[in-house]
Amino acid sequence: MSAVASGETGLVRVCSVADVAPETALAVEVDGTDVAIVRTGDRFYAIADECSHAAVPLSEGDVEGCTLECYLHGSRFDLRTGEPLGLPATEPVPVYRCRVSGDDVLVDLGAAPDPDDTASTGAAPTTTSAAGTTPRTLSQE
Ligand code: FES
Repeated sequence: MSAVASGETGLVRVCSVADVAPETALAVEVDGTDVAIVRTGDRFYAIADECSHAAVPLSEGDVEGCTLECYLHGSRFDLRTGEPLGLPATEPVPVYRCRVSGDDVLVDLGAAPDPDDTASTGAAPTTTSAAGTTPRTLSQE
């Protein structure tokens, strides 16, 4: 899938929100890098689409909460940090900044995810704003 540059530095459109069913992952390519876009609940995450144990696509694994399980040997990776949560994998997988803007899912390969920057379909778009305004999230818990 081709990526289209967004208006914000580093973020590129990789797919639409509707392309990723809840609790699944979608394989995309961003500038030659294989990335798994993972949707869990109304949250989206971007993680390198290659297990650190034996280089199989993580996008073919199962999504559970904030983890993605490798289908081959069962290591689970934390979608927020890329860290393996169990053997046999011992090395982390790169994770990337991921945002939702309207119907678009955006990824920045050059930035790590911010703990408060996880993409959500329930939040107002935060990648575009008129000059002089501050993007904000409407949903507060
Ligand atoms: S290939 Fe992923 S855990 Fe072995």
